[in-house]
Amino acid sequence: MIKKRVEYNKMYYGFPVILVAYYDSENRPNITTLSSSYSLGEMIVLGFGKNSYAVNHIKEGIDFTVNIPDSSMMKEIDICGAYSGHKSNKFKLSNLGYKKSEIINAPIIQNCPISLECTPVDVIENSFFESYVNILAKIKGRLVSDVLLDDNNNLIYDKIDSVEYLGDDNLRVYRYLDKNKVHHSKSFLKK
Ligand SMILES: Cc1cc2nc3c(=O)[nH]c(=O)nc-3n(C[C@H](O)[C@H](O)[C@H](O)COP(=O)(O)O)c2cc1C
Repeated sequence: MIKKRVEYNKMYYGFPVILVAYYDSENRPNITTLSSSYSLGEMIVLGFGKNSYAVNHIKEGIDFTVNIPDSSMMKEIDICGAYSGHKSNKFKLSNLGYKKSEIINAPIIQNCPISLECTPVDVIENSFFESYVNILAKIKGRLVSDVLLDDNNNLIYDKIDSVEYLGDDNLRVYRYLDKNKVHHSKSFLKK
């Protein structure tokens, strides 16, 4: 393999698209599309541009939900990633439905098959990366569509239809999972 050094400003090597939903300071529900997230156990970390309407509320300590859309929701994903809550109510723009979480003060997007109920525990801002704000949060609850669960409430992984976001400075794309191909994690160790 020959590797070329590339001088990109950004490179997304494949991140799941998520929709973050919250009530703003006027108690109005809103949504932002993100791809910058990771989760370990009960911890979740989200990366926002510092001008995001969403992060300017969440950094004050308000609850939010992380909702995993599927490939039937591409228009809504684009709408919530193109308009800002500074000017728009994206629940109205996208026609997405919500109901309030039973355990935190945040809206759950009904159309998304997976939703995580989260409370922020820290805000990470660093002078090296002045344009970004990272939110560290605790996952307090997880809701999963019954269509994605077997009789023991285990995930049916090949039915999860999340969307990946990837690309470079030049072009960024959505990629869909090939639902017919899956390998068990660690299964390659035996070969
Ligand atoms: C697929 C996709 C992924 C995105 N990922 C992020 C992200 O990880 N962090 C971020 O701050 N903005 C991200 N954006 C851009 C925001 O969604 C966009 O700036 C939005 O208008 C911010 O809305 P807000 O001001 O209401 O928070 C993404 C947009 C799209 C379409």
